Amino acid sequence: MKSILTLTTATVLLISTQSLWAEKGSKGSHDKEYRQNNTISTTLNDDNTTQLYISECAACHMAYQAEFLPKRSWKKMMLTLEDHFGTDASLDNNESNQIEAYLLRHASDAKKSYGEFAEISESIHNSETPLRISETRYFKKEHRKIPKHLIEQKEVKSIANCTACHTKANKGNYSERNIFIPNYGKWDD
Ligand code: HEC
Ligand code: HEC
Repeated sequence: MKSILTLTTATVLLISTQSLWAEKGSKGSHDKEYRQNNTISTTLNDDNTTQLYISECAACHMAYQAEFLPKRSWKKMMLTLEDHFGTDASLDNNESNQIEAYLLRHASDAKKSYGEFAEISESIHNSETPLRISETRYFKKEHRKIPKHLIEQKEVKSIANCTACHTKANKGNYSERNIFIPNYGKWDD
């Protein structure tokens, strides 16, 4: 009797988690390509530029925290927005200047970074100017064990889609307890 009850509870739990993800998935698939429905707050909240950064740089993906990359990376990115990973993300000069200033103000080498931001940025050599957080040494080391099919599945699509697995990435929280991989669940290392 007890085991039947447990089984029923487990099934109910399973179904409700699955439908949660199904809802999330179908919401995303209505959007074009990478566009996401983002209600974002980053770790940063210094002024109106945060809002500008979010509205312009989080239309296709989350608002990646500026603390992940050094100033030289952000400068290079802002100079190459016309061909931004195969898309055109260019901005008018005024917005571009404001966003660049914001990114430089919060870049990994603009102030003392901490925790996971520091671990990623410290793994970047001085001679490198990465445009991808996901190509930094520490990032690759941390994500190397995730099976390919969990990344390629439609609920994730790309390792750059941080929020698909890091449920609090928008808040700058990447701690293991907030990792939940769609169709897999909690990550147990
Ligand atoms: C028109 C859509 C679009 C806009 C607008 C856009 N991006 Fe992107 N961005 C992309 C795409 C597509 C990728 C590659 C994603 C992938 O590989 O899955 C990307 C990737 C990135 C990455 C690398 C992610 C990683 O670690 O792999 C960073 C950093 C980034 N964008 C920053 C910005 C900034 C800063 C802005 C605003 C100035 C911006 N993006 C605006 C489409 C966009
Ligand atoms: C497919 C799911 C998935 C995606 C997408 C993903 N991550 Fe992760 N991430 C993980 C898992 C799982 C771990 C834990 C690895 C371990 O500890 O073995 C992790 C670990 C991390 C850590 C280290 C956490 C710690 O406690 O030290 C950071 C930082 C991080 N990810 C940032 C990112 C960022 C930034 C992005 C997007 C550019 C991203 N991740 C995309 C699944 C993902």
